[in-house]
Amino acid sequence: MIPRTKIDEIVDAARVEEVVGEYVNLKKRGVNLTGLCPFHQEKSPSFSVSPSKGIYKCFGCGKAGNAVNFIMEVEQLNYIDALKHLAERYRIDWPQQEVSPEQLLKDKLRTSERESLQIINNFAERYFADLLINDDEGKTVGLSYFEERGFRSETIEKFKLGYAKESWDHLTNAAHTGGYNLELFKLGGLIKENDQGKVYDAYRNRVIFPIHSVSGKPIAFAGRYLIQDPKSPKYVNSPETPLYHKSNELYGLFFAKQAIAKNSLVYLVEGYTDVISLNQAGIENVVASSGTSLTEGQIKLIKRFTDNICVLYDGDAAGIKASLRGTDMLLEAGLNVKIVLFPDGEDPDSYCRKIGPLAFGAFLDEQRQDFILFKASLLIGDAGNDPIKRAELIKDIVSSISKIPDVFKRSTFLRETAVLLKIDEQLLISEANRLVRGNALKQPKLEESQYLQTSTEQELLIDSVQDLQLQDVQEKDLIRVMLNYGDKPYSDEFVSVAHFIINEISMEELEIEHPIVVQILSIIQHQITEGSIKFHNLIRHEDPIITEFVADIMSKDIEVSPNWHKKYDVFIDPVGYNFKEDVDSSLLRLKIKHVEKLMKQNQLELENFEKIGDMDQVDIHVQVHMHLTQKRHDLTRKIETTITR
Ligand code: UTP
Ligand code: MN
Repeated sequence: MIPRTKIDEIVDAARVEEVVGEYVNLKKRGVNLTGLCPFHQEKSPSFSVSPSKGIYKCFGCGKAGNAVNFIMEVEQLNYIDALKHLAERYRIDWPQQEVSPEQLLKDKLRTSERESLQIINNFAERYFADLLINDDEGKTVGLSYFEERGFRSETIEKFKLGYAKESWDHLTNAAHTGGYNLELFKLGGLIKENDQGKVYDAYRNRVIFPIHSVSGKPIAFAGRYLIQDPKSPKYVNSPETPLYHKSNELYGLFFAKQAIAKNSLVYLVEGYTDVISLNQAGIENVVASSGTSLTEGQIKLIKRFTDNICVLYDGDAAGIKASLRGTDMLLEAGLNVKIVLFPDGEDPDSYCRKIGPLAFGAFLDEQRQDFILFKASLLIGDAGNDPIKRAELIKDIVSSISKIPDVFKRSTFLRETAVLLKIDEQLLISEANRLVRGNALKQPKLEESQYLQTSTEQELLIDSVQDLQLQDVQEKDLIRVMLNYGDKPYSDEFVSVAHFIINEISMEELEIEHPIVVQILSIIQHQITEGSIKFHNLIRHEDPIITEFVADIMSKDIEVSPNWHKKYDVFIDPVGYNFKEDVDSSLLRLKIKHVEKLMKQNQLELENFEKIGDMDQVDIHVQVHMHLTQKRHDLTRKIETTITR
């Protein structure tokens, strides 16, 4: 835990215009600053910074937040690391954690082991790279190999490629001369020891691909042979070390992370050389699984940057079917999975070189297809008219679909698959429901509402999602009103607008659904009980999700687009006069939404009672319906008279 005071110190020191200014060329416009948004491609600036509010907001892509949110986004760091980053930038001491002496010693040893390993890895990276560029053997064997493959010198430099000489002890000797501890080289897998206790270089006569951590440090090495040799493996890879856990790393991620965030898409390839080739072709959002299917750790890593993955498969049929299996895990993680197939015998690297970067980019865009539909069409070709095979195929595809956590995506896929395979959609739905229930037993987090019975229920659910989004807008608007006028006096009875709103919500039993709105309201309520409302503190809250949300709302009066009012169906009042009207109408809209929600629920129940013929209940529900309709009418009238503009 970092002390709250430390967080405040950092957030206070980190002037948003300074922090952003290091990444974005900002120009003054009125009291604010504008520039080109670093988070999406744009030609005219829609990115705005308000020094007085301490926030930024892009009116193009919607990203908003304070200085900490900005660093999290642009450097792709988590909250703590972003704070640490800012602490360093502003020379603020980072708190040392209080821990037991034993733990401290253990941690120290482990850290120092990791730090020492990092030092020898840095050394080895420089050593290999130097041999490739400056050593005669390195140049004639290693460098010419890379050149033959079409790697340009800036690419070789960027990926820090290197060469290991055809020698048993060249690295060992260099380590000796450098005064390094050989044990560390053994731990790092750079030097090995035989049964007789003799040490020797692990990488010999190979070109070297350093593997970098997310933050760009060399944590492992892969050495590719130069001549095909059935006796030795194509790649020699680092073992697991305290620095390197293969299943939690992805080759190329350091070079890809910003491009992934910018394009909200990551390309997944198999090999190191594929990553490098694509980078050279200007496609930077690419990582390699290093020949195996992705682990859960690697999927988590990807999810930190994007939900959209596009898998580039080598074009041989056996390979495709093998990789189909690994893909369910991606679906299960809630990723949107697309695939691109290459012509038989080509991999991304070879094909990119063959047709050139421009055509290759176009190829990726054109050939990208949805994974599920691809799988369906691939398997249907195999099954032909054989009914047993077709039944298996349906099971197989529905099983993949049922892995998708999002109920709406699931139902869309079921519909599309039904059309594609010319199968009754209902059949697919009931099969999927069966499997989803099975999955749910395994992972209890799925909610009751996610089981779909009929397509009318699906439609109703989709309706209610749209409602939810509308409700979202109203709830957010309430927070806007809170932030703008919360501390103003509402009436004698209520000390403040904030007090009044909180009171209304509880009196009218208005259900707030947006989790962040709920959280903010409870913070405000807490402050009211404590007797001091500190709205400005919300933008410095320790939860970055809250600051992002608050910044988004605070930015509403930085720049108002002409369509804003229409788009959001709320009134904004930049000057703040007549704020009571604003408060009242915001609450009224929330109340109307609430009534409409009750009406829908009532309607559903009514239909069910009609179906089972319970006419008493039907009567009651009709009464409720009429009551609610009247209530909605009254509220709408009130709004019309409140808004006198
Ligand atoms: P590939 O055989 O496709 O290698 O294996 P490549 O990197 O594309 O190399 P080129 O194009 O033949 O030069 C794909 C990935 O599988 C892992 C490596 O990560 C490789 O990049 N692999 C393969 C190994 O780790 N060890 C091996 O022996 C072979
Ligand atoms: Mn290859």
